[in-house]
Amino acid sequence: MDMFVVQGGQPLAGRVGVSGAKNSALPIMAASLLADGPSVIWGVPDLADVRTLSQLLQTLGMNVLRGAAGEILLDVYDPKACVADYELVRRMRASICVLGPLLARRRFAVVSLPGGCAIGDRPVDLHLKGLRALGAEIRIERGYIIAKARKLRGASIYLGGPFGSTVTGTCNVMAAATLAAGVTTIEAAACEPEVVDFGTYLNGMGAKISGLGTPFVRIEGVDELIGTQHEIIPDRIEAATLILAAAITRGDVTLENVRLDHLTAVLEKLREIGVRIESTDDGVRIHTPIELRSADCFMLPHPGLPTDVQAQLMALLTTVPGISLVTDKVFPDRFMHVAEMARMGARIRREGPSAIVSGVPSLSGACVMASDLRASAALVLAALAAQGESVVRRIYHLDRGYDHLELKLNRLGGRITRVEDTPTNMPATLKASALERPADIDDADAEIRGPKWLTVTAPTKTKLATD
Ligand code: EPU
Repeated sequence: MDMFVVQGGQPLAGRVGVSGAKNSALPIMAASLLADGPSVIWGVPDLADVRTLSQLLQTLGMNVLRGAAGEILLDVYDPKACVADYELVRRMRASICVLGPLLARRRFAVVSLPGGCAIGDRPVDLHLKGLRALGAEIRIERGYIIAKARKLRGASIYLGGPFGSTVTGTCNVMAAATLAAGVTTIEAAACEPEVVDFGTYLNGMGAKISGLGTPFVRIEGVDELIGTQHEIIPDRIEAATLILAAAITRGDVTLENVRLDHLTAVLEKLREIGVRIESTDDGVRIHTPIELRSADCFMLPHPGLPTDVQAQLMALLTTVPGISLVTDKVFPDRFMHVAEMARMGARIRREGPSAIVSGVPSLSGACVMASDLRASAALVLAALAAQGESVVRRIYHLDRGYDHLELKLNRLGGRITRVEDTPTNMPATLKASALERPADIDDADAEIRGPKWLTVTAPTKTKLATD
C-alpha cells in the first residue's frame, strides 16, 4: 500500500490540464454492453476504477482495449455472460451500471448488490423501482440482484428519493428504456452533466432520448443500438479539486480543458469566499488573495454544489477566518474527513448532516488516514496548505478516482512524494519522539517521588448490616 509524504506551505502556481470525467466514463463504458459493434471512447481517465470496470466488462464477454492516445475500444464477443460477481462489484459501486444494459440487451442479469461505503448506506431501491416499472422481474438472493425481462415496455417513472434523484439510477433506467417497446418518461431524473454525457453517448448509438439535463427525460425505444465514437466531458470534480488546491495554498493556477458551465455553483461559492476567478480561452485562472471570507455551503444535486466537492471545500474553509457551515443534503453522513482534519489542527464540529468550521490561522502537518475518494483529495489539499510535513495514508482511495493527481499538483509546485506505507518511510518529524518537551515543564516534575515500593495488605472484610 502507498502513502503520500507532503511538504506543505508552498503556494501552487502554473498551468495544468483536467482529465476526462470518471463519473461519465464508468456508466458510458458499461452502456457499451447495449451496442452491436465496437465503440471507441476518447478521453477515458487512467484510474483504478476504470481498470476494475474493464475487468468486469471482460467477464461479461467484452473486449476492452486501451489505445496509445488514451482511447478505449469496447466490443462484445460473448453476449451470453450475465453475471457481475461480488469480487469485482465490492471493489467499485459503479459496477451497478451494468444492470440496466445487461437487462435490456441480454434479458437477464445477476449483479452483486454493492452494499454501503464510507460515505453512506447507498441503497439501489430507485434503480430497481425504475427497472420493475419497465417490466423486469427482480429478486434479491444471496446478496445478488437477479433480474429478468422477456420484454421491456416503456412506462412513466418517478425517480425522486429522500435525497433527490439518483445519478447512476437514472443512467440504468435510461439505458434499459432505450431498447424497451414504446415511450418511457422519467420524472425527477438526475440532471448532472455526467448523465447528459451518458445520454448523448446513447443517442450517438441510435437511441432517441430528449430532455437530457432536465428532470424530465423522454426515451423512445428503438430496436437496436450500434457502436459509436464518443469523447468524455472534462471531469468537473477534478477541476474543482485543483481549483480548491490553488485556493487553499493561496496560489495562482490556470486550468485547461474545463467546462465552466458545469462548475457554476462551485465558482459562485468561491467568488463569495473571495477567490478570484477569470475565464481563459480554454479554461480558467484562479488567483487567491491572502484574505478570504467564511461562507455557508449546501451540497445539493446538480446544479447545486456537488457533494463530491464537499470535503475539499471544507479543507479550504478550515483555513478561512470566521465560522462556515457545510451541509451535505445528498450524503448526510459523508464526514469521515472531519476527524482527520482535526488532527491537522482544524476546528470542526459535526451536527447531523452539517459541520461547523471555525477557521484557524494555519493547519499543521500530521499523519492522516484517507477514508474515501474525495476525503483523500481533501486531506492532500489540507496537507499542501499545512505548516511542515504530512503523511496521507490509504491513498488507494485517491487512485480509484483521480488521474495522477499528485503529478498534476507537483507540476504546479506541490511537493508530494509517493512511497510505500512502511514504518521506515514515516518521516521522523511526524514521530512522537520528535515532539519537544515544553520548556516550562521541568524534567524533575516527572520524577517518581515517595516510596518506590508499596506494601500491599489484603483488606479485612467488613460485616454488612444486612448480613
Ligand atoms: N439513493 C437512494 N436510493 C437509490 C439511489 C440513491 O435513496 O436507489 C440516495 C443515495 O443514498 C444518496 C442520493 O440518493 O443519498 C444520491 O445518490 P446517487 O444514486 O445519485 O449516487 P450514485 O449514483 O451512487 C453518483 C456518483 C457519486 C456521487 C453521487 C451524487 C458515480 C459513479 N458516482 O453516485 O460519485 O457522489 O452520484 O452526485 O457516478 C465520487 O465520485 O466520489 C462519488 C461518490
